[in-house]
Amino acid sequence: MKCKDCAELYRQLDEVIEQNKHLPGPIIQTLHGAQKIFGYLPREVLEYVANKLGHPVSEVYGVATFYHLFHLKPKGLFQFKVCLGTACYIRGGPMIVDQLKAELGIGLDEVSEDRMFSVEAVRCIGACGLAPAMMVNDKVYDRLISPAKVRAVINHYRALAAEHQRTSA
Ligand code: FES
Repeated sequence: MKCKDCAELYRQLDEVIEQNKHLPGPIIQTLHGAQKIFGYLPREVLEYVANKLGHPVSEVYGVATFYHLFHLKPKGLFQFKVCLGTACYIRGGPMIVDQLKAELGIGLDEVSEDRMFSVEAVRCIGACGLAPAMMVNDKVYDRLISPAKVRAVINHYRALAAEHQRTSA
């Protein structure tokens, strides 16, 4: 894992571990905190948590992979979650994935080099009647029936990403 401020991130993680290590079931709470700090759960963080809590790495890894809310791979600041449930699949979900690949240069389960965008598939987000649909972070976009509609969503987040990069430079 590459990180600019690793020492500071591990210092924060130590605090989280300290707060949780005497609680019942400390692994889940600690992993929650670790994911907030690092954005995801890289292997070295899982090993670090296991060591500090005195649990086998396999147990910590087992918890991290059991719960969907934990991510073992990095995610983008803006996470495109394309629904590939049946209704969306039939009505164009795969085309949305193709368009994201063409416009952002990343396919399913990939993250852009600048960590602004990631793309993943999800199974039904409860908007079947308005398929095809996708989410970006927690916002739902439905009736994505044309490339122009998909492009408008992508461009909205491109603008937000550029703004984010400008203000955090
Ligand atoms: S199948 Fe896509 S929202 Fe239900």
